[in-house]
Amino acid sequence: MSKIDFTGRVAIVTGAGAGLGKCHALEFAKRGAKVVINDLGGTRNGVGSDNAAANKVVEEIRVLGGEAVPNYDNVATVEGGRNIVQTAVDAFGKVDILVNNAGILRDSAFHKMEEENWDAIVGVHLRGAYCVTRPAFINMRENGYGRIIMTTSGAGLFGNFGQSNYASAKMGVTGLANVLKLEGAKYNIKTNVIIPVAASRLTEDVLPPDLFAKLKPDFITSLVLYLCSEQCKDSGVMINAALGYYSRSAIMTGPGAILSDGERIPAPEEIMENWDKIVSLESPKYFDQVMTMFGEFGSLL
Ligand code: NAI
Repeated sequence: MSKIDFTGRVAIVTGAGAGLGKCHALEFAKRGAKVVINDLGGTRNGVGSDNAAANKVVEEIRVLGGEAVPNYDNVATVEGGRNIVQTAVDAFGKVDILVNNAGILRDSAFHKMEEENWDAIVGVHLRGAYCVTRPAFINMRENGYGRIIMTTSGAGLFGNFGQSNYASAKMGVTGLANVLKLEGAKYNIKTNVIIPVAASRLTEDVLPPDLFAKLKPDFITSLVLYLCSEQCKDSGVMINAALGYYSRSAIMTGPGAILSDGERIPAPEEIMENWDKIVSLESPKYFDQVMTMFGEFGSLL
């Protein structure tokens, strides 16, 4: 088994002051990476800021003999994203790895979902992924190497009551990964998506205490480290992780039904009659990009 090593690599982890991000950052540093510890240090629902969050993790890494610098910017602004990447370039000369991890929650049932709470969540999770990833991607393109992680959630992929804002933003980052997979391919930039479940301040009041105690973030970190290694050749995959469980989730397409020669418009009743075939997921197919999917109905052109 080849050893995964990050000597000479520069990693940015957003929201690295606590929870999953802290765990990823410490492990990157232990395996030789120089790490930018970004954290705004606000509350669980994104209020306030505190430099102590990032500083403590930097200190912990330095005590262990690793190299790290802090950054306190908000991922949700273009200026913040630029500063985060500039921090890496100024301190270590480049960016090889970016883990988009910073996150907050503002749950409520959709009929009570105020604009402020919608915007705050889309801001940190989706806009944040844009603001930080774009300058990092530009640097990676220039260097011909990059590893990017998007942190999504089962709430987005599968649904979760009371998380319409969060689910929407988290699905947004999977769309971004689908495109970066294509745009980064020529430059050896791999973008992959993790779907974690782990103990942190975001989950402490939603998980039963005995399960919470077992859901160590370290289970997720091993996956992140592999996906960020030189050895990882995949791009655009989404991996579930919790405890010791790892599996791929993907958008798959069923065999469907052809109800026309491409000219005659089928009546709504024909849709109704063929509904079971249309919604069937038997022998589903995976498409690597939208043009490949078009091939499915291409014979009707
Ligand atoms: P956490 O609350 O322990 O850590 C998130 C960190 O992000 C905090 O230190 C916070 O200060 C920082 N942060 C928040 N907003 C920021 C901003 N605008 N700019 C910079 N830093 C900011 O939470 P946890 O659980 O470690 O979450 C990490 C990521 O994993 C989040 O994106 C979350 O949505 C995602 N996730 C977590 C799951 C879990 O089971 N813990 C499940 C699915 C997804």
